[in-house]
Amino acid sequence: MAEDTSIFIGASRKPDDSYQRAEELLLRYGNRHGLITGATGTGKTVSLQVLAEGFSNAGVPVFCADIKGDLSGIAMMGEAKDFLVKRAEQVKLDPYRFQEFPVIFWDLFGEQGHPIRATISEMGPLLMSRLMNLTEAQEGVMNIAFRIADEEGLLLLDLKDLQSLLANIAERADELSARYGNVTKPSVGAIQRTLLVLESQGAANFFGEPALRIADLMRTTRDGRGAVSVLAADKLMMNPRLYATFLLWLMSELFEELPEVGDLDQPKLVFFFDEAHLLFEDAPKVLVDRVEQVVRLIRSKGVGVYFVTQNPLDIPEKVLAQLGNRVQHALRAYTPREQQAVRTAAETFRPNPDFDCATAITQLATGEALVSMLEDKGVPAMVQRTLIRPPSSRLGPITPDERRKIIAESPVAGQYDQVVDRESAFEMLQKKAKDAQEAEAQAQQQNSGGSRWTIPGFDDVLGSGNRRSSNRQTVAEAAIKSVVRSVGSSVGRAIVRGILGSLARGR
Ligand SMILES: Nc1ncnc2c1ncn2[C@@H]1O[C@H](COP(=O)(O)OP(=O)(O)OP(=O)(O)O)[C@@H](O)[C@H]1O
Ligand SMILES: [Mg+2]
Repeated sequence: MAEDTSIFIGASRKPDDSYQRAEELLLRYGNRHGLITGATGTGKTVSLQVLAEGFSNAGVPVFCADIKGDLSGIAMMGEAKDFLVKRAEQVKLDPYRFQEFPVIFWDLFGEQGHPIRATISEMGPLLMSRLMNLTEAQEGVMNIAFRIADEEGLLLLDLKDLQSLLANIAERADELSARYGNVTKPSVGAIQRTLLVLESQGAANFFGEPALRIADLMRTTRDGRGAVSVLAADKLMMNPRLYATFLLWLMSELFEELPEVGDLDQPKLVFFFDEAHLLFEDAPKVLVDRVEQVVRLIRSKGVGVYFVTQNPLDIPEKVLAQLGNRVQHALRAYTPREQQAVRTAAETFRPNPDFDCATAITQLATGEALVSMLEDKGVPAMVQRTLIRPPSSRLGPITPDERRKIIAESPVAGQYDQVVDRESAFEMLQKKAKDAQEAEAQAQQQNSGGSRWTIPGFDDVLGSGNRRSSNRQTVAEAAIKSVVRSVGSSVGRAIVRGILGSLARGR
């Protein structure tokens, strides 16, 4: 196979249905993004599997979400089932070899893979607000909360940190309003309640440490294959907003962390975004704009993003225009809206005089697709009716036992499995409150006991008001020191936020 410069994805057919030629994705355009679309059961997941296999074999790490569990089979050797062997013959895949791929399983809930975590601080106010579906006014408060945390050296790691910060903000609402603009108790209260809902949906697992290190997604094996990170997303899909926000966060982390590399021989990482419509469903325009921006810019970091969704209309025009490599499986066309979708999908291809694109889209068989990859100079190839090759790994899910074994032997085994709960905003604010209380008590004592004594000119020092504030300062200082000690440079870094509002590391 020509897997050093391209990925074999199948064979196009002539109008009489005979073999035409091999269709390939050129690895040097792998960072020009892509799109896999089609109605349910038309072959999207298998196409994703085939592309993921190809990238991995070429040494490109892959990240993908496994919505139904059926992508997990990529970790196991395929089997010579009749229909697969027949398909291999049809597309002249000879020899048809079976392979298992180096998979790392991940799971936000830590059940079907290594836990993936991010800190609240890394997530940033924009994505947190999106996750919690906040109103504009509430989002304003969220922005202020992050600013206060940054300024006061309060580490936001997990949900209880954010909860306690919000409680603190509610107490200081008047003072903060004067400084930053409108911070009302009801809006803070509304955010606090939304946080509780989020917590009850299991999001607490996701926020905290140890947070995911991007480098763990960029591993290759000794024999030069790219790791395939498979995120268990069946349970996650029950909370679509968490799913979408998480993937957005991951994309923005990749964007912030990876250096500019320009165009390479092959991508450094490929990211498959299944059920991509969830990203854009009732997303505010700012967010759509930012996503568009990240997708556009992440290319030069060597990252290819492949959206997978039923209908190309699910993706905003501006984003769609950037997806160079296209695999369009069959669409139904019963209703006017469906017919419109078919026409729109057809119009996005460079036409082929041999067939009518819109008609073809409705007639494609399972595992067959209209394919147009970028060819020389990055121009989209003329669309071809293509039978997709069968995968080399197992078609369908792995068993729980197989999964456990792979998780136990994974290169990140033990790294993420235990939550670490170090001192952060929650503990610091608790301590602050306690110290303030003690200071108050002390001051009161002094006021009652020592009020007979004054030292001329030093009255202020002993006055209860200043006694408290100097004490508060010491506590704050101590807090900042402890933060600096425990996270090194990361507090300084918290102030710089990237396009999607997550941390920009400037590394
Ligand atoms: N390239 C292929 N070679 C052989 N069989 C295929 C191929 N593509 C799809 N199939 C067959 O079609 C079935 C359905 O494909 P797949 O699961 O990829 O559909 P899907 O579009 O992902 O569906 P859903 O939207 O429900 O997730 C597969 O289980 C397999 O039997
Ligand atoms: Mg599928």
